[in-house]
Amino acid sequence: MAEKAVLILGGTSDIARATALAFAKRDWTVRLAGRAPPELQREADDISARTGRTVTIHQFDVLATGSFAAFADALPGLPDVVISVVGLLGDQARAETDPDHASEIMRSNYEGPALILSLFAERFRARGAGAIVGISSVAGDRGRGSNYVYGSAKAGFTAFLSGLRNRLAASGVHVMTVKPGFVRTRMTEHMKLPPIITATPEEVGEAVLAGLSRHKDVIYVRPIWLLVMLIIRMIPEPVFKRLKL
Ligand SMILES: NC(=O)c1ccc[n+]([C@@H]2O[C@H](COP(=O)([O-])OP(=O)(O)OC[C@H]3O[C@@H](n4cnc5c(N)ncnc54)[C@H](OP(=O)(O)O)[C@@H]3O)[C@@H](O)[C@H]2O)c1
Repeated sequence: MAEKAVLILGGTSDIARATALAFAKRDWTVRLAGRAPPELQREADDISARTGRTVTIHQFDVLATGSFAAFADALPGLPDVVISVVGLLGDQARAETDPDHASEIMRSNYEGPALILSLFAERFRARGAGAIVGISSVAGDRGRGSNYVYGSAKAGFTAFLSGLRNRLAASGVHVMTVKPGFVRTRMTEHMKLPPIITATPEEVGEAVLAGLSRHKDVIYVRPIWLLVMLIIRMIPEPVFKRLKL
């Protein structure tokens, strides 16, 4: 039987690295895509040395939507699973007055990931099999003053994945949304995060594998986030407006 292959978009992130290693340890071929080939190559060599699996690297920029079809065509084959880990937290304060920065955050977290996953979804649908995984965020569950540009883009991405899953439910294509909650990574290294609700990148990687094997639709990596966001969503707007969240 041919080896199963996973394509990870945003391959240089800490979450991608941990996820790639988790798949490679289960004998998957790993394809890492991102915009920094030297970094991807270092990571590929490391995973390959640790697991003996094939790890290939591929140039990919999520903002270059016009090159998506050529990117997919150039891969060694259609993967079995595609995971978009791409994201950009950006600077909320700057985004409030700099439309170019706001647009970059919106496009990096919503437009780009949605369009590239949509492209693979169509190819999977034609084949009758495949899994699509989008790393979204609890930040999309309710807009907050401190990060609503990022949060709204993640909300759009979450809704897109939900619709895609709904449309493809009978086609053999599995679409899974991942809401990691806080994760200790390069993106959050400047933040003070409560340990009880902060996952490691390795937990995210294992949660993705477990979610795929159980055919999950939406996963909160630490289940406590389901409760946290339920409470946050239930706060009435007049009260929410007065909170500094
Ligand atoms: N850390 C958290 O607490 C947390 C919580 C919820 C959700 N998430 C989500 O988890 C994912 C990974 O985040 P992380 O924490 O591991 O942070 P990260 O290291 O900053 O990861 C972001 C990834 O996106 C890539 N990327 C950004 N813009 C790109 C572009 N134009 N083209 C291609 N790749 C691009 C980055 O590549 P470069 O290396 O080239 O910049 C990097 O690989 C993101 O989607 C993030 O929103 C994180």
